[in-house]
Amino acid sequence: MSERTALITGGTSGIGKAAARTLHERGYRVAVTGQRQESVARARQELPDDVLVLQSDARSPSDIDKLVSEVGRQFGSLTTLFLNAGVNRPMTLENWDESGYDEVFAVNTKGVFFTLVKALPLLADGASVIVTVGIGATRSLTGSSVAAGSHGAVLAMIPTLALELAPRGIRINAVSPGMTDTPMTRASIRTATDDVAGTMTAMAEHNPFGRLATPEDIAGTVAFLASDDAAYITGQEIVVSGGAGLAI
Ligand SMILES: NC(=O)c1ccc[n+]([C@@H]2O[C@H](COP(=O)([O-])OP(=O)(O)OC[C@H]3O[C@@H](n4cnc5c(N)ncnc54)[C@H](OP(=O)(O)O)[C@@H]3O)[C@@H](O)[C@H]2O)c1
Repeated sequence: MSERTALITGGTSGIGKAAARTLHERGYRVAVTGQRQESVARARQELPDDVLVLQSDARSPSDIDKLVSEVGRQFGSLTTLFLNAGVNRPMTLENWDESGYDEVFAVNTKGVFFTLVKALPLLADGASVIVTVGIGATRSLTGSSVAAGSHGAVLAMIPTLALELAPRGIRINAVSPGMTDTPMTRASIRTATDDVAGTMTAMAEHNPFGRLATPEDIAGTVAFLASDDAAYITGQEIVVSGGAGLAI
């Protein structure tokens, strides 16, 4: 594969935006998606000029079709697909309603699956697919049961997808961040307390490394999984948590 190309869903913010910068610095042609007009506009200003920033709703099959068609027109094929768009709607158990549940699964599970399915013709043989899951999928985080289930469903698909993609030499792996300092984390904390900074400091103190992950910590692992250094790794989950969740 001569030219390296990457599509990053949810690349207008947080982990996805850091991955866009990292892959761009490493010579990839990069396209990112976001859903909200204002974050798409901000990403167009903040990311390098030659990063393609597209508005596309991961919940919408027709948006995914248009996205695949536009990326195909501009890049021809993809050597990396980073399925990262996601939402968390932290909620106490008694407050969940059907529309909130459906939205979380529509983005985090259905959106991931159908973006992969629809992008298959664009994926070069030997491409790398990376999916953001999260340590919350297999551990406890109060208020995040639905996000955990939605990411956990994708994690359960990874071994089967890996075997289905292997004949084309395509690898698929999950990257599972621990608590990462992103707009999502700050917004989630804000639903419970006004003391966002104090809460983040307290959370950092519980981490074995004494800090939360930065988006760049996760982006480095994404770049590794995208690279030929990971050429024989498929069907795996790499946890990037600074050791969070190891203690019993
Ligand atoms: N932060 C953490 O501690 C943490 C931990 C474990 C797992 N994760 C997972 O990591 C991923 C990235 O999270 P983040 O922390 O970087 O969050 P973030 O800063 O809020 O970024 C989320 C990205 O997803 C996009 N997105 C949301 N809904 C979308 C939709 N319907 N269609 C297309 N794009 C959509 C957002 O675009 P707009 O801004 O335009 O809506 C944004 O680019 C998520 O899957 C999240 O669940 C995060």
